[in-house]
Amino acid sequence: MDISTNLSKITGSATAQIFSIAKEMESEGKDIIHLEIGQPNYGPLTKIIEATKNALTNNETGYTVSKGIEELRESIAKYHEKNDNLKCNYINEIVITSGAKLAIFGAVWSVTNSGDNVIILNPSWVSYKDIVISLGAEARFLKADMDFNYDINELDNLIDTNTKAMIVNSPCNPTGAMISEENMKSLAEICRKNDILLISDEIYHEYIYDENKHYSLFNIENWKEIGVVVNGFSKTYSMTGFRLGYVIGDKKIIKEINKVMQLTASCGTNFAQHGAIEALNVIDEMRDFIKNDVVPLRNNVIKLLDNYDIEYLTPKGGIYVWLKIPSNDSTSWAQSLLENKGVALTPGRAFGPDGEGFVRICFTKDYDQLEEGIKRIGQFLAES
Ligand SMILES: Cc1ncc(COP(=O)(O)O)c(C=O)c1O
Repeated sequence: MDISTNLSKITGSATAQIFSIAKEMESEGKDIIHLEIGQPNYGPLTKIIEATKNALTNNETGYTVSKGIEELRESIAKYHEKNDNLKCNYINEIVITSGAKLAIFGAVWSVTNSGDNVIILNPSWVSYKDIVISLGAEARFLKADMDFNYDINELDNLIDTNTKAMIVNSPCNPTGAMISEENMKSLAEICRKNDILLISDEIYHEYIYDENKHYSLFNIENWKEIGVVVNGFSKTYSMTGFRLGYVIGDKKIIKEINKVMQLTASCGTNFAQHGAIEALNVIDEMRDFIKNDVVPLRNNVIKLLDNYDIEYLTPKGGIYVWLKIPSNDSTSWAQSLLENKGVALTPGRAFGPDGEGFVRICFTKDYDQLEEGIKRIGQFLAES
């Protein structure tokens, strides 16, 4: 039996691979520091858990409409109206998905055919390219820096008549880069001119540091003619296992993504959606938590890194730090670090061609773990 050509091109998540080796080592009694998985170290607020439990008690266990409970879509619209001055019709311009991952799938699926291509600003989250490839399209990488500056000639060379979408993720996983207003405007203009769907993944938009400001696709005039915004509940609210994301955009695209939901998950998990309604109710508490717990972790990780001879890019947003390594084989380097020092992190190569020579750590971890992990990385660098 032949395996699908599209799927056989996909190697699987490097983070998951490192995680499974680390787990095996742990089961052999080794002391492992986990800095690989991109997950907040705090759980959802008790009020979110209670709302989810109440929904279960009230038998909210069946299918919901495929685009998600109306009250949740209305709450999302209100949240973005307050946050981004967004005017949108939650009846047909928002669809709830099973995680932001399925939101990206839906957005790419809605505009690509086999043989098309999608431009991904790079370094970039590991799953974008695999999503694109699994749908029979080609992933084309455009190198971008910490402000998402890119080479316009390089972009011109990447675009052809089969270019159907472009994915930008700010704040960025893995680098912590944030797109400037100027660069979002220029990408939007290029997408408008070439009839390319701009998919703006803004899942880390509540994690912003120092004086940096999040520039959303929502800020672009007539943005619905150009692109869609993807967001979700996994990161800000630490609801990774609830599997809830969403897309906001023009009703024409949302209708197609809703078809993807009908075809795949059917709908977001019913009782989880009730938890998400409560999450949006308690956003101010979540923001206090981020201010009091996550921001200090981000500031501390930088202080810790400065104690050693470790080169890194200061994250402007998100929950990761991008470390430079003295090797052009980040996969072997990460494996050797794990074997020798028991620190699990993600090799930069997994984040696309421009990720080589770097590794990613997630800093939303217990401080002691972070301190010990960085100490071991510092030692490893000093010894190698
Ligand atoms: C940039 C980015 N987008 C989307 C996702 C997927 O999130 P979800 O758990 O909602 O599927 C992740 C998860 O790591 C991410 O880093």
